[in-house]
Amino acid sequence: MNLKTAEKNFSDTFAEIDLKIFNKNFLKVRKYACRKNADTKICSIVKANAYGHGMNVMAESLIGSGTDYLGTADYTETSELRNYLDSKKLYKTPVLCLGIITEKNKLLEDLACKNVEFSVADTSSAVILNKAAAKLNTKISIHIQVDSGINRTGFRMSDAYDAVKEITSMKNLKLKGIYSHFATSEIPGNLFAKKQEAEFRKLVKSLEESIIKFELRHISNTGGILNFNDGYFNMVRPGISLYGFYPDEKKVKNGIGIEPVMTLKSKVKFIKQLEKGESISYGRTYFTKNKTRIASVPIGYGDGYIRSFSNKAKIFIKGKLYNVTGTVCMDWIMADIGMKNEINVNDDVEIFGRNYPAYKLAALAETISYEITCNVSSRVKRIYI
Ligand SMILES: Cc1ncc(COP(=O)(O)O)c(C=O)c1O
Repeated sequence: MNLKTAEKNFSDTFAEIDLKIFNKNFLKVRKYACRKNADTKICSIVKANAYGHGMNVMAESLIGSGTDYLGTADYTETSELRNYLDSKKLYKTPVLCLGIITEKNKLLEDLACKNVEFSVADTSSAVILNKAAAKLNTKISIHIQVDSGINRTGFRMSDAYDAVKEITSMKNLKLKGIYSHFATSEIPGNLFAKKQEAEFRKLVKSLEESIIKFELRHISNTGGILNFNDGYFNMVRPGISLYGFYPDEKKVKNGIGIEPVMTLKSKVKFIKQLEKGESISYGRTYFTKNKTRIASVPIGYGDGYIRSFSNKAKIFIKGKLYNVTGTVCMDWIMADIGMKNEINVNDDVEIFGRNYPAYKLAALAETISYEITCNVSSRVKRIYI
């Protein structure tokens, strides 16, 4: 029997982004990152659409909070962000592109004239950037990316010294920074992270003694800031902590009081009563244990609420958590709300947020909170408060 019905309306599902909390998180991260070196600069990472929160708005907010740099993943993000900031007359804060530049990046010369700094992970990208800068009769600022153990991108430790020497002869490049990236910094005291840091520090010191002084030396992401802070490095690159999460909630030793910025919200849009033993959703993976009521909520894997939450996740309605029952559909989930009449159509639902944190959802899917917020799809409106 249908107790109450309402039309499905995608805008019932939205991500509420709290810019006040975002600002507070930034200040807490900066304070902690500066505990050994008060001059430590902050390169706030806004790649992947600011971990799903909306790159342009979050970047603008970070500039208001006092970030020194903004970090993007690739050419496209860098270009979009720089153009957005320039349109708002926010010229001053540099954007550091952490990705690889290739000959295919046709508008490179456009970016070279703007306040963008580039990562150089091999000599061929240095050559491309040097050529683009020479054509414009300008200099491009670069950060040498050294692979100290993550084995993703960057110069191998053994090649970095000679490569930097070679790049210093490229007249249109300014070697502004040098950086590396941790593989295991979320684990306090981790030996591999310590080894990465020690070897990278040794390399930078030897380069600075004999070849060139770098204005910026950086290695720490959030895990590095929390667990491996070293005053020798004078810039950090926090991402996830700005959005209110620790890289691994279970391994956090010293919390710094950050809070989630995003709350994913929806509404109950349909309620029906079922008898004991009836199945719910595709594949009939759930059967009601008793006579009960099922609430349908307009969110699904099309919104980034992944299918592996089926029969595992909870949702928060009117002060209580309820089990998601049956398979997550593209546009809907169902939850068993029992027979009491306290829930009605159009009641607010928290999918994740303060009452049901995204990291709890992440654990159910054997993933990390990064993936949960990044996954929130483009059809979910971001509402900034
Ligand atoms: C090069 C680099 N620096 C910094 C970060 C930020 O890391 P986190 O979000 O763990 O702080 C990332 C994120 O993936 C990264 O790839």
